[in-house]
Amino acid sequence: MTLVITGGAGYVGSVCAQHLLDAGHDVVVVDDLSTGHRDAVPSGARLVEGDVAEVADEVLGGGGDTGRVDGVIHCAARSLVGESAVDPAKYWHGNVVTTLALLDALRRHRVPRLVFSSTAATYGEPETSPITEDAPTRPTNTYGATKLAVDHAIGTHAAASGGELGAVSLRYFNVAGAHPAAGDAPALGERHTVETHLIPLVLQVALGQRDEIAVFGDDWPTADGTCVRDYIHVDDLAEAHLLALDLLAGDAPAIAEAGGHLVCNLGNGTGFSVLEVIEACRRVTGHPIPARVAPRRTGDPGVLVASSARARETLGWKPTHTDLDGIVADAWDFARSSRTA
Ligand code: UFG
Repeated sequence: MTLVITGGAGYVGSVCAQHLLDAGHDVVVVDDLSTGHRDAVPSGARLVEGDVAEVADEVLGGGGDTGRVDGVIHCAARSLVGESAVDPAKYWHGNVVTTLALLDALRRHRVPRLVFSSTAATYGEPETSPITEDAPTRPTNTYGATKLAVDHAIGTHAAASGGELGAVSLRYFNVAGAHPAAGDAPALGERHTVETHLIPLVLQVALGQRDEIAVFGDDWPTADGTCVRDYIHVDDLAEAHLLALDLLAGDAPAIAEAGGHLVCNLGNGTGFSVLEVIEACRRVTGHPIPARVAPRRTGDPGVLVASSARARETLGWKPTHTDLDGIVADAWDFARSSRTA
């Protein structure tokens, strides 16, 4: 298939692009490089540099060398929860307005498949754990609200298309780890200019780039008092995108039954606390990693763990990198290699 991946110069997008290439697809990356990196775009993919809303019509219309587009994976997004509170306009425009333009272009050019990067942040503070897809969606931050708005927009477009557009929204829990280097292809991992995620921050302590890690609250109603999250390896996440495309390419009753738009959680179903993650990083790096308890971070839910039963049953997804130390080890290899690159 010829597949367009937006945000393909970013962390998740670049790993997805590599998996698509490995599976033999033609890949066009659309990225404005505002947060992504040119050198993260896998060789073998064609990069169209530009804003998704501005270039969607040309790329999906077969402009340049693209030809007919069989599907789009839409990863491009603003994704910092904290920033979304102080600059909501950036998130409503960057996530919602941009995606509405992409959806218009998809419909105009009759692109039949869409896989969207949604998030566990659409659920907010859960009432039950693990979280299933029919749990209430009450986002506690603007980032989650914008992703939920897009999920709704996709649902209505898919329903109105009368079967012309099929879509899958994948609700990621805590993506972590890195895609290891293979042959000439470099490792692909998390390289944010503004880093807010736990594992890369803890590894920065091990690398001597920061003195200690702040633990945001030790008074949560969890076993050790720190927040619990469901960490999923980025390679397992990427595989789910390929499976979603396969499902959309077939005559899938699951898509029809979902009104043309299927929503699937992606997580391992196991929660690890902040202290357990820090401990795993100490084991993997051999560094003492000083930690200090700090106040809770605004908008953080205490526990976020996925039920991925639907992804397993409907997509046939089976995560294979479920060991926390293994996830951290891949992130550590990447962090060390990108420091010396
Ligand atoms: N944490 C710390 N100290 C830090 C950074 C994080 O204690 O310096 C804690 C957080 O409070 C949280 C956990 O580590 O309990 C994980 O935090 P991350 O920032 O790594 O991830 P989040 O769970 O906040 O958010 C991630 C994605 C979001 C997504 C969300 C949904 O980054 O995009 O998962 O589950 F919306």
